[in-house]
Amino acid sequence: MEKKVKFGVVGVGSRGLGAFSTMICQRTDAEVAAFCDTNEIRMKTAAEKLKINPNFYATITDMVKNESLDAVVITTPDFYHEQCAVEALENGVNVLIDKPLATSVKGCRNIIAAAEKAGKTVMLGFNLRHNAVLKKVKKLISENTIGKVFLIENREFYDGGRTYMSRWNRSYEFCGGLWIHKGSHDFDVFQWLLDFPKPVKVSSFAGINVLNKDHIPFEVTPGTPVGPTCHECPYKKICPDIYDISGELDRWGDEAAQLDGYKKDLCIYTSDKSVHDNGIAMVEYDNGARASHMECFVTPISDRRYTIVGELGQIEASLTDRIVTLRPRWSREIVTYQIPDEEGGHGGADPNLLDAFIKVITGVLPNTSTTEHGMMSTAVGQAAELSRREERTVFIEELFRD
Ligand SMILES: NC(=O)c1ccc[n+]([C@@H]2O[C@H](COP(=O)([O-])OP(=O)(O)OC[C@H]3O[C@@H](n4cnc5c(N)ncnc54)[C@H](O)[C@@H]3O)[C@@H](O)[C@H]2O)c1
Repeated sequence: MEKKVKFGVVGVGSRGLGAFSTMICQRTDAEVAAFCDTNEIRMKTAAEKLKINPNFYATITDMVKNESLDAVVITTPDFYHEQCAVEALENGVNVLIDKPLATSVKGCRNIIAAAEKAGKTVMLGFNLRHNAVLKKVKKLISENTIGKVFLIENREFYDGGRTYMSRWNRSYEFCGGLWIHKGSHDFDVFQWLLDFPKPVKVSSFAGINVLNKDHIPFEVTPGTPVGPTCHECPYKKICPDIYDISGELDRWGDEAAQLDGYKKDLCIYTSDKSVHDNGIAMVEYDNGARASHMECFVTPISDRRYTIVGELGQIEASLTDRIVTLRPRWSREIVTYQIPDEEGGHGGADPNLLDAFIKVITGVLPNTSTTEHGMMSTAVGQAAELSRREERTVFIEELFRD
């Protein structure tokens, strides 16, 4: 039997366990040899759930020094991506980083320098590129069905928004803001669909309109405060936004929180936060194309809805409905494609992403999701964050000045 690809998983939380470790364990050509997490309880429960016996490490330093790994998957909070990637690369290990590459252009450049020195692969977890709906869109563009693309719009709707308001990613400090944490996916899709022009300038508007103390959706009794977490909240039976983690308290409950203070279900209305619950960002590229990305975390639906306009026609796509519509410019012949469901997380994109990474590090495929791409999507996100804070258009080159 062929040698299995030995993985270390760094950050055994939602993605580390629920996506990557689970998918690795489902394969016959790969194995999870080691876990690294600052929280030992989460490593133990993850190993029990997967019925595996990896070595545990509290730091990436110890993991990469003591294991002989083919690759690490980095699924820590975004702020730690840079340090973890650099240490893995310095120890000669290939890296798959769930998006974003890092929370600043500076951090991305440090990873790129370490990767060049090590001569190892760093691939980005831009799973949207592996989504069958977007792959169809990309194929239609490549087949020149709509000519040269000059305008893209994406509207992202996310129901509940709790994951962005109730844990570390509600804080700019840990994720660089939602234009990087969430939008880097979308800014990467724009560049991928446009065939990688350079982004030149970015403007954005964003803020909190709904997910604050003024919008608690029930009557609060004086003297009985809301929260702080859903599982402790006296209003949990009447709150329409309850985040029920009762099935996961072994990993995210009070015992695990005692080790690191991590609470996963802080009240989305009363938590302190420095990110937005809705916003619009616009980007202009050096080939003259323009794109706009709207993201809203307070909606009754979850979807990404695209309109892509080329000189010869237009494509519309919905990731949730899995429908792609092609409208030629001078014809009424509209073609609609219903994209079949695929198994696995994010509409089948997650297992496709892992498969691609294994093929890249075993030399079967070239890496098409590079650190350069990761850096440009972070750059657009960082520019959008600066734009909304400083209320001005931000030129990407500003972020590259030493
Ligand atoms: N591609 C996607 O669709 C997608 C979706 C969700 C999240 N993500 C990304 O995945 C990553 C993980 O997100 P998540 O939702 O799984 O987070 P999470 O909070 O559920 O898990 C993070 C884990 O990292 C651990 N950790 C914290 N600091 C650490 C450190 N210094 N070293 C090792 N472990 C550390 C935590 O204890 C926790 O177990 C983030 O970068 C996020 O942006 C990607």
